[in-house]
Order: sequence, then structure tokens, then C-alpha cells
Amino acid sequence: MSEVRPIILKLGGSAITDKTQELVAKTEVINRLADEIKRADLDNLIIVHGGGSFGHPTAQRYGIKEGYKEPTQKLGFAETHHVMTMLNGLVMDSLILHEVPALSIAPSCCVVTDNGKIKIFEENLIKRILKMGFTPVLYGDVVFDEKLGFTVLSGDQLVTYLAIKLKAEKIVIGVDTDGLFDEDPKANPNAKPYRHLTLEELKKIQNKLGKSSGTDVTGGMAGKIAELIPAVEHGIHVTITGATKPLSINRALIGKDVLGTEIEKA
Ligand code: IPE
Repeated sequence: MSEVRPIILKLGGSAITDKTQELVAKTEVINRLADEIKRADLDNLIIVHGGGSFGHPTAQRYGIKEGYKEPTQKLGFAETHHVMTMLNGLVMDSLILHEVPALSIAPSCCVVTDNGKIKIFEENLIKRILKMGFTPVLYGDVVFDEKLGFTVLSGDQLVTYLAIKLKAEKIVIGVDTDGLFDEDPKANPNAKPYRHLTLEELKKIQNKLGKSSGTDVTGGMAGKIAELIPAVEHGIHVTITGATKPLSINRALIGKDVLGTEIEKA
């Protein structure tokens, strides 16, 4: 059997949770996305979701991203993982209900980082799961780290890592806006959308991209773009589109035009 070149879908925490309220999921968005994923009918899909108002506030309260400093953080590490499994459970419930053969994989159990960067991740298991026609579902999680003891691994770093290792066909990122803008479109209705960006253009605007609204321990939009850049450098096409609007994710998955930002190496 030849290697499967996956399509990697990231569902941003801002799209699937309400970042103004801790531990609140947008279940209607999750259900619609599960339906759109089912209808895309892909046998090469990997899903990665973010933490939103589940992972970020808990991780921030205990300073998990910065690493292990004192024993009370251990409960915070456990709690952050636990709230991520709660959000993951909601995503999984919905996918299974929509008859997607989704299989949840906890990064905290199979990834080790070194100073925040993935060092060990047995991707052969993911390859095997994909080959058998399952849809692996991963998420931003707490992980053990060689230098820091532990830290937070963003879903975006997982997306890029898997995209490069598995030679992804493309990456689709679902957020709560219609792609990237020169300013926060929720705060400024006149914000200008970026419809197409080359790698060079992306690098230039990277630092202008603001912080996300609500708690974000992994660096907001600028942090996400920094994580995605290596995938773009490997020539992998990235589409960033609105997951909170009906059909954008479905269309992006099946290769149709969407309102959003297309990012290409050149
Ligand atoms: C964060 O993952 C995971 C935790 C805080 C445990 P992401 O950084 O990918 O999450 P979003 O998409 O920004 O919410």
C-alpha cells in the first residue's frame, strides 16, 4: 500500500470554544463541523484541535508553558490535560455521531519536546492509523519536555510537524475569522483581509498579527503563524478560513474556493 499523503485540519480553539467563558464549548459549531467533515468524505484526514477556553486558562493559572518549577504545578499539568480531554470528548462525540471513524490520540502520551519543540513523536503509528482509513484526532496538550520538565504543545506545532513528516497534501486551518487580516476584524470592521500570501509576505506581516482575544498561552495568531512557517517552507499549501461560518471548512477540505487566506511558498 502506498503512503497516504494526508490533509491536516486544525480546528482553532477560538472557533470551537467560547473564549469569553471558561470551559464553554460551541457545541453547535462542533456539530456542524463534524457534519462538514463527514460530507467531505476524505480517507486521508488528520484533525488537530486547539484548547480555547479549556486548555489556555488552566495552563496559564499554573504557569505550565514556562515549565516545571514547583510541585503544586503537577495538579495544574494534570488538570490542563484533563480539560483538554473534556473538549476532545465533545469533538469525538460529535465526529462518531456523524459516523466519522475518528480515533483520539493524546499528545501528552506520545510526544516529548525539547525546550518547547517536538523531539520525539512516533509518527509511524499515525501512518498506520491513516492507512487503515481512520481519522486520527490530536489536540494541543501538555507534554513532557527534556529541558523544562513539562510545557504546553500547541496544536499548530503538531500540525506543522505532522504535515512535514507525512508530506501533507495541504493544511486547512479553521479560525473564528475569514482568514488573516491586517488588524483584528472583530475590533475593527475596516480591517483589510489578506487573500493570498507568499512565504516572504507572511514573514513580513507575522509580527503585525495581533494577540487573540481571551487567554492564549501559545502566542495568539502571531504564535500560530510562527509555527506554520516551516510547513510553508516545505511547500505545503495552507488555507486559513472561518470555521464558525457554514461550509468554509467543507469547501476548503474538498479543494473549492473559500473566503479566507491562501498561503503558498512562492
Ligand atoms: C493549546 O493548543 C493547548 C493548551 C493550552 C493545553 P492551541 O494553541 O493549538 O489552541 P488554540 O487553537 O490557540 O486554542
